[in-house]
Amino acid sequence: MTKNKNLLLKIERIKRAKKEAEDLLEVKSRELYILNRSLEEQVQQRVKELEQAKNEAIDLKNQAIEANKAKSIFLAKMSHEIRTPINGILGMTQILNDTPLSEEQKKHLDIILKSSQSLLYLVNDILDFSKIEAGHTSIENIPFDVELLCLEIIDIFKASTQNSNVKIQFDIKNQKKGFNIISDPGKFKQILFNLIGNAVKFTKKGHVSLVLNFLKNESVELVVKDSGIGISPERINSIFDQFEQAETSTNRVYGGSGLGLAITKSLSEMLGGKINVKSVLHQGTTFTVTIPAKMTKKVIKHKKDEITNEIDVNEKFGTGKHILLVEDNPINQVVAKAILSRNGFDITGVVNGELAVKALQEKSFDLVLMDCQMPVLDGFEATKKIRQELNLSELPIIALTAGAIEGTEQKCLDTGMNAFLTKPIIEQDLLKCLKKFLKKSSFKKIA
Ligand SMILES: Nc1ncnc2c1ncn2[C@@H]1O[C@H](COP(=O)(O)OP(=O)(O)OP(=O)(O)O)[C@@H](O)[C@H]1O
Ligand SMILES: [Mg+2]
Repeated sequence: MTKNKNLLLKIERIKRAKKEAEDLLEVKSRELYILNRSLEEQVQQRVKELEQAKNEAIDLKNQAIEANKAKSIFLAKMSHEIRTPINGILGMTQILNDTPLSEEQKKHLDIILKSSQSLLYLVNDILDFSKIEAGHTSIENIPFDVELLCLEIIDIFKASTQNSNVKIQFDIKNQKKGFNIISDPGKFKQILFNLIGNAVKFTKKGHVSLVLNFLKNESVELVVKDSGIGISPERINSIFDQFEQAETSTNRVYGGSGLGLAITKSLSEMLGGKINVKSVLHQGTTFTVTIPAKMTKKVIKHKKDEITNEIDVNEKFGTGKHILLVEDNPINQVVAKAILSRNGFDITGVVNGELAVKALQEKSFDLVLMDCQMPVLDGFEATKKIRQELNLSELPIIALTAGAIEGTEQKCLDTGMNAFLTKPIIEQDLLKCLKKFLKKSSFKKIA
């Protein structure tokens, strides 16, 4: 009996223990459920916060990119604006230089000329760099004779170092006779100018050499080597950064702004290439630029296609020709008029497109030099009117473009202009262009 009672009690205890265990399990699993929920909520909250932080970071990055672009566009526009008065100074100085002057006046004028030239170099560098940063630089892909281009640049530096202790050398390796390369000659020129310019600037004695090497994998290598001051290992990694110079005293001793190599590196990369430097302090520096460039067979040019020789100002080849100069900027007007009149041209100047159309209705001209950005009626609209409403389809219209805004040149040709010249006006370029378009003698108004 007692045995049975004991068994019953035992069962009862087990049942209670089981119930307690079940209750505990339920409480614990509820707690676990709640914990799990809160953990899930916390995770979701964290993911949300992270997402928000990520979006904010993306926004900030985009804002920074936009701000940088706005800065570059601002710099490009400002430096472009600054070029106009500098060119006024340069143009007038050159014209003054051709008048009778005392020795003293010549010296003063020379200082004005050199100072405005270095100011122009600096502004041009800032303009180039900000255009690259703003993505306003386009790449040309045309065949050109890279050997000739190197020779031309070497000749310029040879002339400028004639009386110094620096020997300039040029060598070609693996020459590809009868072949041109396809790339951007303007950018090649800029790269070489910067590198050889630096080499000459930082070498007081010894040599500066350029080696043009045609590599097997359809690329060219430009090696510019000098025996100059060299660059210390601590500073060599920062020389490609904008406004960086190897030593703080560089600007004081050698001048410059520290933009040349930043531009050179960007240009080399834009052409799909790369730039490397090796240097030993007090012994010399070697810059190597490698640029991919396809080869193409040279086309033999006819004589008349060859670059025309310098035009002699005394030739006065403009005598008897009447040019309509459409330009709103008074400085540019004065410079262009001075250049044109000393070459014998008759000039009528107007300050906007509407006045140009009016002038052409009243009189016939041999050629129009047309600025693009002008108040009242711009150069593009004026050209359309001249071609369509006045029916002057044969009249040569040469655009004067600022070159700071991408696509302007193509727009000029698309609206019916015959050619374009970028400002600042360079006398020889203007004369060559005028000579080309004035060959067809006078153009009569087709009524
Ligand atoms: N061939 C070289 N030999 C020694 N140092 C050099 C050489 N080329 C460049 N450097 C160093 O690298 C720096 C940056 O060169 P970079 O061409 O960018 O500027 P810069 O010549 O001083 O000025 P800028 O080219 O803007 O007129 C130079 O200031 C100079 O310290
Ligand atoms: Mg430089």
